[in-house]
Amino acid sequence: MMIETISNLSKSTSFNKSASFNRRALSSGSPRVSRAGWISRWYHVFVVIGFLVSSLVVITAGYIHVLPSLPLSSPNNGVSKSSYLNETSNGSCNVYEGSWILDDSYPLYNATECPFAEKGFDCLGNGRVDQTYLKWRWKPMDCEIPKFNVQNVLEMLRSKRVVFVGDSMSRSQWESLICLLMSGVEDKRTVYEMNGNKITKRIRYLGVRFGSFNFTVEFYRSVFLVQEGQMPRHSPKRVKSALKLDELDSISSQWIDSDVLVFNTGHWWVPGKLFETGCYFQVGKSLKLGMSIPTAFGVALHTWASWIEENINTNRTHVFFRTFEPSHWKDHTFKYCSITRQPVTDAGERARSIFSDTILEVAKNMKAPINVLHITSMSAFRSDAHVGKWSNNPSVPDCSHWCLPGVPDVWNEILLAYLLNEYDSSSK
Ligand SMILES: *[C@@H]1O[C@H](CO)[C@@H](O)[C@H](O)[C@H]1NC(C)=O
Ligand SMILES: *[C@@H]1O[C@H](CO)[C@@H](O)[C@H](O)[C@H]1NC(C)=O
Ligand SMILES: *[C@@H]1O[C@H](CO)[C@@H](O)[C@H](O)[C@H]1NC(C)=O
Ligand SMILES: *[C@@H]1O[C@H](CO)[C@@H](O)[C@H](O)[C@H]1NC(C)=O
Ligand SMILES: *[C@@H]1O[C@H](CO)[C@@H](O)[C@H](O)[C@H]1NC(C)=O
Repeated sequence: MMIETISNLSKSTSFNKSASFNRRALSSGSPRVSRAGWISRWYHVFVVIGFLVSSLVVITAGYIHVLPSLPLSSPNNGVSKSSYLNETSNGSCNVYEGSWILDDSYPLYNATECPFAEKGFDCLGNGRVDQTYLKWRWKPMDCEIPKFNVQNVLEMLRSKRVVFVGDSMSRSQWESLICLLMSGVEDKRTVYEMNGNKITKRIRYLGVRFGSFNFTVEFYRSVFLVQEGQMPRHSPKRVKSALKLDELDSISSQWIDSDVLVFNTGHWWVPGKLFETGCYFQVGKSLKLGMSIPTAFGVALHTWASWIEENINTNRTHVFFRTFEPSHWKDHTFKYCSITRQPVTDAGERARSIFSDTILEVAKNMKAPINVLHITSMSAFRSDAHVGKWSNNPSVPDCSHWCLPGVPDVWNEILLAYLLNEYDSSSK
């Protein structure tokens, strides 16, 4: 009843009725793309100097990852006390405020050679010719994301269970993480899907095991996080199913026993996936026919928050929630998209999303420490990074999903930076 058509995804701006969906981009302090050549050249000089200085710091400190204090317990928006590699900063850094800069050490893997990058996301493999889109690194304004060191990360994850839960955006982050990690595994045959399953759009569960390191990276498809079910009896005719906003997905018990838990939801909360398919909201026994999507999203998030607080031992499990991943459709018909060759300099209204605002708000009020991966505005600049026509179905453009390698790798670098810091400080 809910077919995941690519072009139908992510109509985030299609709630025309609600003005709040067209909020202005943050006008000041929002990230920018540095494009002027001299800036970039000077930047490289700084990077080299910075690298030398920071190498010294690293050596003298005797540590491999210098990411002193990015506490997971800092709820929401990533503002944390952290000096990273930047000694001149006053010690606070919003990781999500910064710019995309060219960096020749990217990309970090070749999707064609990674068995877990699905064909539909392998833009190069599907004929994309321009390659600059592969070369952008995210540079927070006041700090550095530590360079991806695959051996450190593989060791960090030893004997752990990493679980992604959500829609296809979660699946692509899951694929990205596996490809990143496989770049450090010599014998690729030691990495395998535990049930021998292939990646498909509707598959409910995929679990990849890294045999030599005794850890798994898993994906549970749960596009709304809450439970979809049959409509209550005596419902109006147009009601074909109901989304139970006060009940988490029935497979949620399988997420509990994990070390790292990364959620997302958002792209399915659109009329085309809900009302237009006959799916309406339900709370308790009653249908809520008049409830708006943003309100329902908030109710579902509160259900999620209670579930976390009742079920998750945050002494063990690090919980992340990724905010809305912006799409770059040309207009509100969601049929056309034009992929640019460079990131845009002004992300416009895409820099914000009511879903992201709701996630931040709910996380802020939780007792459990939740780390919100607030990637909305940084990703909004990347109009160059979507799949477009370079999918496995070129006749249907895709301006929602991202090419791999690409933007999801950067989400993972931020996730891993937090984890490295967390596991490093807890082992002291
Ligand atoms: C370091 O922090 C200062 C002060 O916040 C900032 O002006 C400078 O651009 C930062 N440098 C780098 C390399 O991040
Ligand atoms: C650090 O600088 C930022 C930006 O100037 C400011 O917002 C913040 O309050 C400062 N933090 C501390 C701990 O001084
Ligand atoms: C990626 O790997 C494929 C298959 O080995 C190869 O044909 C292609 O040239 C590689 N792409 C890049 C950018 O290295
Ligand atoms: C593998 O990881 C599990 C936890 O996921 C742990 O219980 C077990 O002891 C580990 N095995 C080895 C050989 O390290
Ligand atoms: C988590 O750790 C804290 C502090 O060490 C402890 O008080 C608490 O009981 C622990 N909670 C669980 C569920 O183990």
